[in-house]
Amino acid sequence: MALISLRQLLDHAAENDYGVPAYNVNNMEQMHSIMEAADQTDSPVIVQASAGARSYAGAPFLRHLILAAVEQWPHIPVVMHQDHGTSPGVCQRSIQLGFTSVMMDGSLKEDGKTPASYEYNVDVTKRAVEMAHSCGVSVEGELGCLGSLETGMAGEEDGIGAEGTLDHSQLLTDPEEAAQFVKETRVDALAIAIGTSHGAYKFTRPPTGDILAIERIKEIHARIPNTHLVMHGSSSVPQDWLAIINEYGGDMGETYGVPVEEIAEGIRNGVRKVNIDTDLRMASTGAIRKHLADNPKNFDPRKYLTAATKAMKDICKARYEAFGTAGHASQIRAIDLEAMVTRYDSGELDPKVN
Ligand code: G3H
Ligand code: 13P
Ligand code: ZN
Repeated sequence: MALISLRQLLDHAAENDYGVPAYNVNNMEQMHSIMEAADQTDSPVIVQASAGARSYAGAPFLRHLILAAVEQWPHIPVVMHQDHGTSPGVCQRSIQLGFTSVMMDGSLKEDGKTPASYEYNVDVTKRAVEMAHSCGVSVEGELGCLGSLETGMAGEEDGIGAEGTLDHSQLLTDPEEAAQFVKETRVDALAIAIGTSHGAYKFTRPPTGDILAIERIKEIHARIPNTHLVMHGSSSVPQDWLAIINEYGGDMGETYGVPVEEIAEGIRNGVRKVNIDTDLRMASTGAIRKHLADNPKNFDPRKYLTAATKAMKDICKARYEAFGTAGHASQIRAIDLEAMVTRYDSGELDPKVN
């Protein structure tokens, strides 16, 4: 199985009513945990690299990490996606590196902090789409800014996110504007704002409909039922790992994430890609803290990194099962990017939006 495009995978997910977790990768242990879990559950994979990952590991290492996974697990279809591209140029460089999918996040300006106008967003996204589709590569766009409906703060903890306070109209994607945006840009998938934010500190209490707007997903899906929706900031912030981190010397405050049942409700309403980074960070940190506390004589990193891999793998498996991804890898036959170019050129993949 070669690498496949995001569009191919999300079309399959929509036809078969499931969602796919998109995990951020920075190192071999994350990659192993994602792939081992996919192998054990027969799940197709989306792995994504952020700008932070590129500066941590270096683009060549990231690229070969993902290609190594494809070589080691040849029966698992893998989408190699660039997370939060801040300009068409960033997307172009990822396409040159071999990514099969890019996110053009034009909801923010090129600094990744300043909210952009609708017109700016359409302009940069359209440019990225023209370039990517001519290579058979998929594009995810974003409309609306990620951020907390509790505080109005975007929380740019992970280097991507608006600065300062935003009002509700910026924090919730408008269904009519979403339809216009998809029509104008021809994106393959659309990230929407519904009150989630990046990182561990999403909600100060278990979220209810006023701070996690699942109803808004339903409204957007009703307006653009043929568009694949993407939820960012979708870690569930596992309370068991939070407790372990704190028990073994960590200092994380009380905080809550997006419950898995709410994500499942999103998937029943058009969400096809679910971005998860923080949950794997928490599981690996908790497992390493615990391993080192329980084994004070150990100085072999392979031992505590194996504990981290297992902890992350358990989360990956649970998400593949809860999102309905499990069981679908073996149903997918790869369409190469050349063939995707032909499909874009023929108009077959044009957005179906009235
Ligand atoms: O976009 C947010 C992801 O959690 C990536 O985070 O930029 O620290 O790699 P990062
Ligand atoms: P979390 O911080 O909730 O894991 O979200 C990650 C994300 O949205 C990456 O784009
Ligand atoms: Zn994100």
